[in-house]
Amino acid sequence: MAADSGAFKRTTITAALPYTNGPIHIGHLAGVYVPADIYARFLRLQKKEVLFVCGSDEHGVAIPMKAKKEGISPRELIDKYHAIIKKSFEDFGIAFDNYSRTSAEIHHQTASDFFSSLYRQGDFIEEVSEQLYDPEAQQFLADRFVVGTCPKCGHESAYGDQCEQCGSSLNATDLINPRSVISGATPVLKKTKHWFLPLDRYESFLKGWILEGHKDDWKPNVYGQCKSWIDDGLKPRAVTRDLDWGIPVPLKGAEGKVLYVWFDAPIGYISSTKEWAAREGQAWEPWWQDPETRLLHFIGKDNIVFHCIIFPAMLKAHGTYVLPDNVPANEFLNLEGQKLSTSRNWAVWLHEYLEEFPGMQDVLRYTLTANAPETKDNDFTWKDFQARNNNELVAIFGNFVNRVSVLTGKYFDSCLPQPAALSPRDEETLEQLRAFPERIADCLERFRFREGSQELMNLARLGNKYLADEEPWKVIKQDPQRVGTILFIGQQIAAALAVLSEPFLPFTSSKLQEMLRMDTLASPCNWEQVSRAEYLLPAGHCLGEAQLLFRKVEDSEIQAQLDKLEATKKQNDMENTSLPAQKETIQYDDFGKMDIRVGTILQAEKMPKANKLIVMKVDTGIDTRTIISGIAEHFTPEELVGKQVSVLVNLAPRPLRGVESQGMILLAEDASGKLVFVSPEQAVGNGAVVR
Ligand code: MF3
Ligand code: ZN
Repeated sequence: MAADSGAFKRTTITAALPYTNGPIHIGHLAGVYVPADIYARFLRLQKKEVLFVCGSDEHGVAIPMKAKKEGISPRELIDKYHAIIKKSFEDFGIAFDNYSRTSAEIHHQTASDFFSSLYRQGDFIEEVSEQLYDPEAQQFLADRFVVGTCPKCGHESAYGDQCEQCGSSLNATDLINPRSVISGATPVLKKTKHWFLPLDRYESFLKGWILEGHKDDWKPNVYGQCKSWIDDGLKPRAVTRDLDWGIPVPLKGAEGKVLYVWFDAPIGYISSTKEWAAREGQAWEPWWQDPETRLLHFIGKDNIVFHCIIFPAMLKAHGTYVLPDNVPANEFLNLEGQKLSTSRNWAVWLHEYLEEFPGMQDVLRYTLTANAPETKDNDFTWKDFQARNNNELVAIFGNFVNRVSVLTGKYFDSCLPQPAALSPRDEETLEQLRAFPERIADCLERFRFREGSQELMNLARLGNKYLADEEPWKVIKQDPQRVGTILFIGQQIAAALAVLSEPFLPFTSSKLQEMLRMDTLASPCNWEQVSRAEYLLPAGHCLGEAQLLFRKVEDSEIQAQLDKLEATKKQNDMENTSLPAQKETIQYDDFGKMDIRVGTILQAEKMPKANKLIVMKVDTGIDTRTIISGIAEHFTPEELVGKQVSVLVNLAPRPLRGVESQGMILLAEDASGKLVFVSPEQAVGNGAVVR
């Protein structure tokens, strides 16, 4: 069992670099950024040395692909989303020590040097191999430019580098029935030179380090995935690509090639550290190279192979870096029962939440933590969000703080009275209070953030129960001095909440600390003192103005969010049924050959024994003729009679079920399959020519 944070000198915390192909949503937050932030704040509160780094992941095929879709350049795309992401993290209180980006000069240099070092040491295999090539778009297809059937699980739209269904990491040539995402063409094989990291050479190292070394301290989902990859046998993986977006391969003869995004992106953690160090006038090396540094990667489960196998193999190959001590990956969060999706806009976007629920960062942090997908996929629902807020934050935490502060104001002019002799119940309550720092710490050290957040709520419950049982509002009539003691104890609980809530609810914690005037205390309150100090707030300490910590969330606010999702669903349904592409060009004469007339449907009846066909008599102005149309599922015969429609009258007659159809009625069909007649806008004489 590896040691916990206590055995190390410092901790480097990384949070997966988000792709700049869209904004941040609740799935990213619950899976990665909220737990990482809680952990970083928790260590800082204990005065541990920690560095928390992140940045934007701006390379890879996802970027040019999305840029094309938005009709802007890749550069414009990354600038746009980098700005949105960075600001939303700041406003949400994710307290990175540095947030960088992989398009930064320092990163290009660092990643390039890293590659060169491995190259010089002979850590790569250089190989000309056959790779998938799109003959129409005339480019190589890697990663997200190609989809096909996953050879492991049969998922039909696995990417060239990874299957999102089963999490397997793939080579594009492994895909069954590959197709180009750019043109739809079936790829051909074409020779090209690439550099491969021979993962097979790291098998025994990985077996020892992970399978033996981290059997007990890595989460079962993480350990299990690693084991299955290692047991499957590791293969060399290309770390370069034929692409024009990315970090150029720093070798002669590698023109037009860039580093694979999953080679450069994790190095972004190192570059971000360097950027921080340069700004702060500090050294970056200890954070990555001192064996007494504990490296932690917070990621989502789709990133496990890259952080547990590939990046560690790179670090190991390089030789001077520490390896991650733990990789607390989370499972996925769904939204109202459906998989979150940037491309389908199925998400609660952070920047929108911040605008729609101003000042309510902690409510989302709390909901996502209390319901975090730690051991299995989980569902975010707006109803649950409302319930967590109204029934826990408002009714338990907020209510306790409010009651104790109102009563202290009312009876003691907001200054803590001198406590009289403590009752056994008072002693017991303080004893319970002192156990909370360790209980919460124990959860957090094991990356059980849900449990930690519930322990915090239990502390507020302890306060509520104490007040409810002691009933100071009744006791005041006979024994005001006793009430002073009760409220003195109550305020100690409020102060403990102010300190211990900081990692989970940083905005609330700071409001509460202000309200309790904790900044004026002779010795500022910290995590340890909550268990050690006799009292957190001394008698005679005067409190500041009461603040509203939480407000109720109304049904109408929840309904508005559900309506928004409903609109997204409709939009997606429409876009999914796509329109056919335009047909090839015809000449004017081709069109002139068609004789289209306005006619009136005189009679209509269903064709016996045919589900779809309706037989009609139509007055075309020229004659009355029989026309058969496959519209029985869309119209009843009754609603057809009397309609004026457009008829292609010179179409060669053809028999349908023994009856000859002598023309064709024109209909318009939209993407959803809805049919309407192409009818004259006003009544017009039958036989009128349409041209
Ligand atoms: N951009 C990747 C994703 O969103 C994560 C990159 S993590 C890093 O899945 F380690 F490569 F930086
Ligand atoms: Zn698969």
